[in-house]
Amino acid sequence: MKVPFGNLKAHYHAYKGEIDEAVQRVLDSGYFILGPELSKFEKEFEQYLGSGHVSGCANGTDAIQLALAACDIGLNDEVLVVAHTAVPTICAIRSTGAQPKFVDIDPATYTMCVKDLESKITEKTKAIVPVHLYGQMADMDPIMALAKKHNLKVVEDCAQSTGALYNGRMAGTIGDFGTFSYYPSKNIGAFGDGGAVATGSKENSERLNMLRNYGQSKRYYHDTEGINSRLDEIQAAILSAQLPYLNEWNVRRREIAQRYTEGLKDVVETPVEREGSVHVYHLYVIQTDNRDRLIDYLAEQSVQALIHYPIPAHLQKAYAYLNYKPGSLPNTEKATQRIVSLPMYPELTNDEIDYVIESIRSYFTNCSQEKQTTESPLNAGTQSYEVAAKSGSIS
Ligand SMILES: Cc1ncc(COP(=O)(O)O)c(C=O)c1O
Repeated sequence: MKVPFGNLKAHYHAYKGEIDEAVQRVLDSGYFILGPELSKFEKEFEQYLGSGHVSGCANGTDAIQLALAACDIGLNDEVLVVAHTAVPTICAIRSTGAQPKFVDIDPATYTMCVKDLESKITEKTKAIVPVHLYGQMADMDPIMALAKKHNLKVVEDCAQSTGALYNGRMAGTIGDFGTFSYYPSKNIGAFGDGGAVATGSKENSERLNMLRNYGQSKRYYHDTEGINSRLDEIQAAILSAQLPYLNEWNVRRREIAQRYTEGLKDVVETPVEREGSVHVYHLYVIQTDNRDRLIDYLAEQSVQALIHYPIPAHLQKAYAYLNYKPGSLPNTEKATQRIVSLPMYPELTNDEIDYVIESIRSYFTNCSQEKQTTESPLNAGTQSYEVAAKSGSIS
């Protein structure tokens, strides 16, 4: 059996009728940018979130940039963010001219550590970007309390957590802004790039609509400096066709996670769900020692496992100028060396999940047999023979 990390082809074929109809409708309409499909999807996504206003944009990176720009964040401002995230979160902060200041993670949930966050607030801090990583939301109540105390804006990066809940509240509806990515492999994905920003404030939403469209309030009237970042009509129509299925897909992701956890909890560290939160498992991430060996072994069994993410943002070459040294974010760096993401998408079958579980279990059985063999006196003799042969003392 072969289990790839993702299978967007299977996803398309499962919904082909509805997707093809949506694309054809747009092609026939001759309307491709800022038209009725976008307005329709924005309304539908607002209903899905249960509150606020939604502005579609070109991708999840722009969504963060637009939200920060709507808060007037720019040069010389500091934005607090985790380094354990997809680097686009950091790209977006830098696009505004602001400096990212890195906060460590809570090792159990991989989300922002509130204690570390508090210790890093300075005069220059203007905003916090909590990242709801892997499908689980950051601990929003204490984050919002700190933001209120220090008068900071909060932009929730929900790229990996559409539909996740924190004490009954949807990802993207707690901070000043919630930003979403519709990258194809996300919990709901476009067939290309796409993104959105949600906000509870009508005024903010009007500002976002100008910012994403060259700063125009109406055609040829540019009231503010903006960018070009729009969710096109074809992608909006494809997203509308899929939105009714999102909850069903998230339920399936949770079932898959439960099956993995049952099958693996005695051999690896399995994900922890924060009490009161609903994790939507964009990624199912385990931890183990020697994870590269496990990934190689799984590849031999035709199971594709990946690492999200192998190098944290503060140690990336691109951000060397920020002068973070190894050891500066200990929980982040430890997680980075031990994490493995297993295949996770709603179309995975139970047979495929069980095959992944069996492959991981057989790896650990082999490891413990290997350990016993290397520890046997007979083998100790063989090893010293090899060492001696290499050093040239026997020929
Ligand atoms: C946590 C996080 N933030 C932001 C982004 C950026 O989204 P996009 O690829 O749509 O620009 C991604 C997607 O890769 C992500 O996973």
